[in-house]
Amino acid sequence: MTIPRTSLLAIAALAFTASANATDFAKQVFPILNQKCAECHSEKKGKTKGDFAIDRMDDMKKQVKAGSPDASSLVVSVTLPDDDDDVMPPKGKNRLTPAEVGIIKAWITEGASFEAGGAAPAAAPAAGGAMTWTNTAGKAIQAEFDRMDGDAVVIKTADGTYFKVPLSGLSPESQAQAKKAAGQ
Ligand code: HEC
Repeated sequence: MTIPRTSLLAIAALAFTASANATDFAKQVFPILNQKCAECHSEKKGKTKGDFAIDRMDDMKKQVKAGSPDASSLVVSVTLPDDDDDVMPPKGKNRLTPAEVGIIKAWITEGASFEAGGAAPAAAPAAGGAMTWTNTAGKAIQAEFDRMDGDAVVIKTADGTYFKVPLSGLSPESQAQAKKAAGQ
């Protein structure tokens, strides 16, 4: 990777805008599905096309692979091209926005919990190797440890983006987490 150092630092600052709280299924994920999928996939409304309903937890669990958004059929089906036969919603109508897809991916990365308040507590490693990193301003991001680079840690988010963050910009817990992950 030969991305100039300054641009990486700038992006790293921007990346830390996510809330420190884990994504909540009922408050953040379900409303998106309810708006975009319920007309065809709601047990409550008596519509279960393809025998799938967003309000049947067993159906939902089959569509998500905790920790791996890109291997989750829920994410795959909403990110296919408009003209793909399997795209959801069908025929490219009423597509999810990138922000909505981002919320669903974050929820899956954090462990796809259906409990209120989301998944693992901050700093606990989630499935798939993602951990919570908190900066000195108390903002958090979910990412995998990649490597140490001098006095900075390189982390990788679920969408494959690498961020290089100076250790001095991280909370003491996250600094310790980086050193532990690096075996230092
Ligand atoms: C306008 C109706 C409509 C909307 C809206 C819609 N779907 Fe579907 N969906 C279908 C139909 C029809 C099928 C069955 C397709 C088939 O079996 O070939 C289906 C099948 C599915 C399946 C089952 C696939 C399988 O076989 O495992 C899933 C999962 C799914 N949809 C997810 C979604 C999600 C998530 C949304 C919202 C983002 C959504 N759908 C929105 C019509 C819709």
